[in-house]
Amino acid sequence: MAERAAIITGGSSGIGLAIARMLGQDGYGLTVSARRPEKLEEAVAGLREEGFEVHTVAANMANEEDIKRIASEHEEKFGRLDVLVNNAGVGIGGLIHDAETKKLDMQLDVNLRAVYLMTRDCVPLLRAAGKEHGKALIVNTASIAGKFGQAGLAMYSATKFGVVGLSQATQQEYGPEGITCTALCPGFVATPMTDWVEGEVPKDEMIQPEDIAAGVRFLLGTSKNCVVPEIQFLRPSDKM
Ligand SMILES: NC(=O)c1ccc[n+]([C@@H]2O[C@H](COP(=O)([O-])OP(=O)(O)OC[C@H]3O[C@@H](n4cnc5c(N)ncnc54)[C@H](OP(=O)(O)O)[C@@H]3O)[C@@H](O)[C@H]2O)c1
Repeated sequence: MAERAAIITGGSSGIGLAIARMLGQDGYGLTVSARRPEKLEEAVAGLREEGFEVHTVAANMANEEDIKRIASEHEEKFGRLDVLVNNAGVGIGGLIHDAETKKLDMQLDVNLRAVYLMTRDCVPLLRAAGKEHGKALIVNTASIAGKFGQAGLAMYSATKFGVVGLSQATQQEYGPEGITCTALCPGFVATPMTDWVEGEVPKDEMIQPEDIAAGVRFLLGTSKNCVVPEIQFLRPSDKM
C-alpha cells in the first residue's frame, strides 16, 4: 500500500491526468475521478501500465451523492488522504444576455459548489495527514479567468473567482491544522477544453498540462512553513 494518497477530480484528461501521472511517479496511491466511465477507464489504463496504484470513481461533480462516494471509496481503499486536487471543471462560452439558466447552474455546480463539497467531505482525512506530517495539500484548479473577468465567459469567470476566494478561506480555516490550499490560475492550456480556440492559438503555443503538474510538484516540495496561495501560469504573450 502506498505511503501517501491523493484524490484527483477531472482526472481523465488534460490537467487532471497530468497531475495524476506526476503524483503516481512520486509514489502516491491515486483515486482518479471523472464523469464519463469509459473515458476514465481508458485514461487510467495508461496510468496502471506505468505501474501506479489507481482506484477509479466515475462521478458527476454536480451530484452531491457522487461527491460523497469519491471521498468514502477513497477512504475505504487507501485509509488516508495527503493531497486533494479539485480539478474537474466546465466552461461554457456566451454573452450574458443569451445565457441559459441550466448552463449557468451546471458551471456553478461543477466549478464551485463541488470544490466546496469535496473539500468538506475530505477534511477529516486531510486533518489526520496534517497532524501526521504538517503538509496536507488542497489544490484547486481555478483559472486566469478567476483573476481577470473575461467577456464571453462571465459565469465561468465568476465561478473561478469564487474558487480563488474559496481557496483563500480554506487556507485560513485549516492552515493551523497543517493543511495548505493553493489555487492554480492558468491561461490557455493545451487540453480538450481549448479545442475551440485552436484556430487562433495553436496547441504547441499553449501552456502544457505537464507545466501545471510541475507546479503541484513544486508545492509538495515546499516546507510546512511555506504557503503558496495561488500560482498564475501565463504564456509569454499574455497580458499581466
Ligand atoms: N485548458 C485550459 O486552458 C484551462 C485554463 C484554466 C483553467 N482550466 C481548468 O482546468 C480544469 C481541467 O480542465 P482541462 O483543461 O484539463 O479540461 P479537460 O481536458 O476537458 O478535462 C476536464 C475534466 O473534468 C471532468 N469533468 C467535466 N465535467 C465534469 C462533471 N460534471 N463531473 C465530473 N467530472 C467532470 C472531465 O471528465 P469528462 O470528460 O468525463 O466530463 C475531465 O476529466 C478545469 O477546472 C478547467 O476549468 C483549464
